[in-house]
Amino acid sequence: MESHPHVRVLRGKKILLGVTGGIAAYKAVTVASRLTQAGALVDVLMTAAAQKFVTPLTFSALTGRAVVTDLWSPAGNGQIMHVALARETDLFVVAPATANTIAKLALGLADDPLSATALASRGPLLLAPAMETGMWLNPVTQQHVRELIQRGMFVVGPMQGRLASGAMGIGRMAEPPQIIEMTRKVLGRNGPLAGVHVVITAGGTQEPLDPVRFVSNRSTGKMGVALATSARDFGAEVTLIHSPLQVGVPFGVASIPVGTAAEMHAATFNLLPRTDVLIGAAAVADYRPATVADQKIKKKSGSLEIELVRNPDILGQVGAQRQQSGHPKVMVGFAAETEDLLANAKAKLESKRLDLILVNDVSAPHSGFGTETNQVTLLDKWGDVLPWPLLSKDEVADRLMIWVARRIQGKGLGDLGA
Ligand code: PMT
Repeated sequence: MESHPHVRVLRGKKILLGVTGGIAAYKAVTVASRLTQAGALVDVLMTAAAQKFVTPLTFSALTGRAVVTDLWSPAGNGQIMHVALARETDLFVVAPATANTIAKLALGLADDPLSATALASRGPLLLAPAMETGMWLNPVTQQHVRELIQRGMFVVGPMQGRLASGAMGIGRMAEPPQIIEMTRKVLGRNGPLAGVHVVITAGGTQEPLDPVRFVSNRSTGKMGVALATSARDFGAEVTLIHSPLQVGVPFGVASIPVGTAAEMHAATFNLLPRTDVLIGAAAVADYRPATVADQKIKKKSGSLEIELVRNPDILGQVGAQRQQSGHPKVMVGFAAETEDLLANAKAKLESKRLDLILVNDVSAPHSGFGTETNQVTLLDKWGDVLPWPLLSKDEVADRLMIWVARRIQGKGLGDLGA
């Protein structure tokens, strides 16, 4: 398999991580490490108070870069370090952001390397506040945060939970995975799908037989969640219509939970007037039990026959009305096949009036249901066929979003090579 450990939206990005003096400073270590592993260049700036909680050495060992602790550190090219860093940054993340640092940022004070760099920087700023509940709820802190948001800065958290004092309340820093997700969302906000609403279906629908049993399939939702994450990173507004998933709904993605194919059908049609791109990654049950027993079906001697009736074909019905309504502009399906892959996928592409279908051999190892990877072949409505190698589901999603962005601009499969 081709290996892509990096996260596309983070790869090569210059991120400043400002660490201030709160107990959550130890979690900033995880943020620095994960951003670096995902391909970002992370320069850490620490206030004096932050160094009482974690040492600069910890951060420099993880990022492989010098940590700025002194306002007057030279950058080595005759420039002052914080001025040089401010010029080059794609995003400045402050985690944890104490009430004191938030106040400095709001007022434009610049008496330490972190606040001076923030003042000099023209890029976006993302704050992850962490403080005692009283400090957070104090009107002066709230006023500062409002002002910073009005000036275009971004905030993640704080969360409810256990605070340093042992008390429960709001003020706990957002967890590192959430800070990373928000970092991705902010970096991607002006991406190629900005202003585009992407609706994705995911998971295996559950068709009830009785109050405790249902008919379903092995879909975990991993493929759909990878698509939603990628669409978000490309700047899209994303809605995930999903049956129960074995993975979490990504941060910054709207979630519409459903159970049955009929519910997924209704949710999809509700959103249709606002849908620019529809991607069907859900494994929708083609059949459901004709009747749902009110009580748990009892065991009897002999066999049990269950009558199944057809479910609505969601993409098929959306495709049938596409020309009149103009929605969605782009429609993509997946074909889960075990034989005659290309012929079966082509028939689905045509009958559902899709622009593109990705066929996966769900009987092959490492592909299809529940796997981290997928091997898909793309068939578009112009007759182009393009096999992709075995890739992580994240990479399949990223490549598909490149196709979607090109399609929104009126282009075909083009040079989207293997
Ligand atoms: O969720 P994972 O564990 O990560 O697994 C991923 C996956 C294998 C489920 C995914 O890659 C996939 O192939 N999804 C489509 C599964 C499927 O239902 O395929 P199909 O060939 O039966 O349907 C073709 C297309 O029509 C699909 O886009 C499907 O969402 C859609 N469909 C199908 C039936 C139906 N009644 N309504 C539909 O809209």
